Amino acid sequence: MAEPCELGTRFQHRFLAARQLGSLPWAELEQTLRASPGCSLLLEILRKTILHPLCVRYPPSTKYRRCFLTQLIKKHESTAAEPLDELYEALAGVLNEEESTHCYKNYLLPRGACVTLVESLAMISGGTTGLVTWDAALHLAGWAMEHRELFSDRTVLELGSGIGFTGIAICKTCNPKTYIFSDCHHQVLKQLRENICLNGLVLEPEASGHAPAELQGLEAGAANNQKPQVVVAKLDWGSVTEKQLVGLQPDVIIAADVVYDPEVTSALIGMLQKLSPSQAATTPEVYVAFTIRNQDTYLLFQAQLDKAGIGWQIIPAHSNTGVLYDVQPNVTILQLFL
Ligand SMILES: C[S@@+](CC[C@H](N)C(=O)[O-])C[C@H]1O[C@@H](n2cnc3c(N)ncnc32)[C@H](O)[C@@H]1O
Repeated sequence: MAEPCELGTRFQHRFLAARQLGSLPWAELEQTLRASPGCSLLLEILRKTILHPLCVRYPPSTKYRRCFLTQLIKKHESTAAEPLDELYEALAGVLNEEESTHCYKNYLLPRGACVTLVESLAMISGGTTGLVTWDAALHLAGWAMEHRELFSDRTVLELGSGIGFTGIAICKTCNPKTYIFSDCHHQVLKQLRENICLNGLVLEPEASGHAPAELQGLEAGAANNQKPQVVVAKLDWGSVTEKQLVGLQPDVIIAADVVYDPEVTSALIGMLQKLSPSQAATTPEVYVAFTIRNQDTYLLFQAQLDKAGIGWQIIPAHSNTGVLYDVQPNVTILQLFL
């Protein structure tokens, strides 16, 4: 049986990141409560979740907190005779709140770091999948943290950054020299910028709102002394030109959950070809993480890579450290050779 303190921490990590309620260790909680009845474990879980300063300031959705507390009360009632006032008081507080279309998620990283994001409640909203964090993003960040040397003091270009989890986690833990977030969707870029600032990273000023000027900002050098230098670029793989890419000179290119549609992958591959050795001073290393939802899409991606003359290899699964929560086993990382 898990130590009560360790159990409380597992509840905390999953709750603050609003991971699926079913993935929280309910069965172990019930077992522990039956073995040693009392309120101290439940009060500890309450303190590490609903009452935690991160939750108070940056709360997961109202519905999520309501369902969490309801479940906690059920577990308590099935194992104890007396009701626990603190649980009902917390639930009453949540019941008085209105639901919004957005919520916060707090991802606790190893060594005390944390990424806090504003995310959409719907997986697809505003015509994009980019306003939530996908499992491949967690997986890629977890892998990066185990391979810090690949990112340390280097220029990293992220494609299809979405609202920023992977990049912000890498900036906070892997010491890159420059981190270039990119995406093509207006609303995603707006939320991405807000999330970067929410996490205390200072964005390089943009010369103007359009892509080439944002990229030129890089060539002009850092406007603040922050390391990493952080840039957000509007970059659409379908229309970006070699001229626009010339200033980037990335050492490492990464992307999470961008292999889900043949049209999207062919634009992605076209863009990677524009960054290939003949166009760039150095050959960037490329790592793409994705969830294999459909075997045909995965095989097609491999065939498209072969046709484009881009080599690839599967990166062996890594050790699933704390940051990864309950990431699905069908997430994989490919290294591509331009
Ligand atoms: C499934 S989301 C993944 C977001 C994030 N990387 C994650 O894993 O949480 C796919 C992202 O790719 C971006 N995207 C799709 N097509 C694109 C294109 N042609 N150019 C640039 N970004 C694109 C979308 O805007 C979206 O943010």
